[in-house]
Amino acid sequence: IRQEALDNIEEASDLKALQDIRVTYLGKKGSLTSVLRGMGSLPEEERPAIGEMANEIRKAITDEIAKKIDVLEQEALEEKLEQEAIDVTLPGRPVQVGGAHLLTGIIEEIEDLFIGMGFEVREGPEVETDYFNFEAMNMPKGHPARDMQDTFYLTDELLLRTHTSPVQARTMQQYSGSKAVKMICPGKVFRRDTDDATHSHQFTQIEGLYVDEHVRMSDLKGVLNEFAKRIFGEDRRIRLRPSFFPFTEPSVEMDISCKVCQGDGCSVCKYSGWIEILGAGMVHPNVLEKAGYDPEIYTGFAFGMGPDRIAMLKYGIDDIRNFYTNDKRFLTQYHYAK
Ligand code: PHE
Repeated sequence: IRQEALDNIEEASDLKALQDIRVTYLGKKGSLTSVLRGMGSLPEEERPAIGEMANEIRKAITDEIAKKIDVLEQEALEEKLEQEAIDVTLPGRPVQVGGAHLLTGIIEEIEDLFIGMGFEVREGPEVETDYFNFEAMNMPKGHPARDMQDTFYLTDELLLRTHTSPVQARTMQQYSGSKAVKMICPGKVFRRDTDDATHSHQFTQIEGLYVDEHVRMSDLKGVLNEFAKRIFGEDRRIRLRPSFFPFTEPSVEMDISCKVCQGDGCSVCKYSGWIEILGAGMVHPNVLEKAGYDPEIYTGFAFGMGPDRIAMLKYGIDDIRNFYTNDKRFLTQYHYAK
């Protein structure tokens, strides 16, 4: 039995054959098993010797099968390795790396800059009440300045915010007139404009507000000067021109000086050597009062800018719609590196 079994194992070419051999010899009806079963009918003196021999044969068969399994598995592995060999000299598939949208990138850059100057970042709802969007900003119902902000009304009292100023009103109200406020509020805003190269019915804004005792116009100028140099380059200068906004008094518009275009980071100035960047001013006493601040004690400045416009100037982009049409050929040119 032993020799026959070992020969069979030697010849077995797969795991199934080995399993069959195991059954043939060691299974319930296997030949070695029947030898062991038949032990009872042997004379008593022969039993130990036969038993020992049978057990030894069982062990030999079991060991041999285990060894053969190892051999077969090793062979299978080698064959597999051979077949699946990888040609490491083939060029790899390029990994597509995602990145922040250009607008997200520029907003984060501006946020970082203001956080560095002690401003906190606040957000608010895009669907606003008439009160926060207009009334709290010193534009009561019927005020002519409302016309300038072509508004998407949802109901008489609800609208899509036309600027991020309502976040300033909300924050001031939360602080209840008892604490200094130093914040910026980035976000999407909406106006009933017909889309073209320079207008979009949806765009982004970042507004800033600093209210405290003794805040002066020179503080505003210092902060805006720092902003312009950090975003557009140390060689830029700023200029403030008188302007009008219902929520600031006095109001200004800020221009930055143009730079001759050379490669990246140039801005396009068509006419005067200055280009308009943002609106700003000293917070109107009515706005402070409505938010619960005593204008006799508190003063403040506010400013508002459009990251779309800033990105267009900074990178020489000539169509605002590029930001919203999701053309990958455009977007992937600006993987924003901070
Ligand atoms: N809220 C103004 C706008 O959307 C921008 C602005 C903010 C101007 C703060 C002055 C001061 O046009």
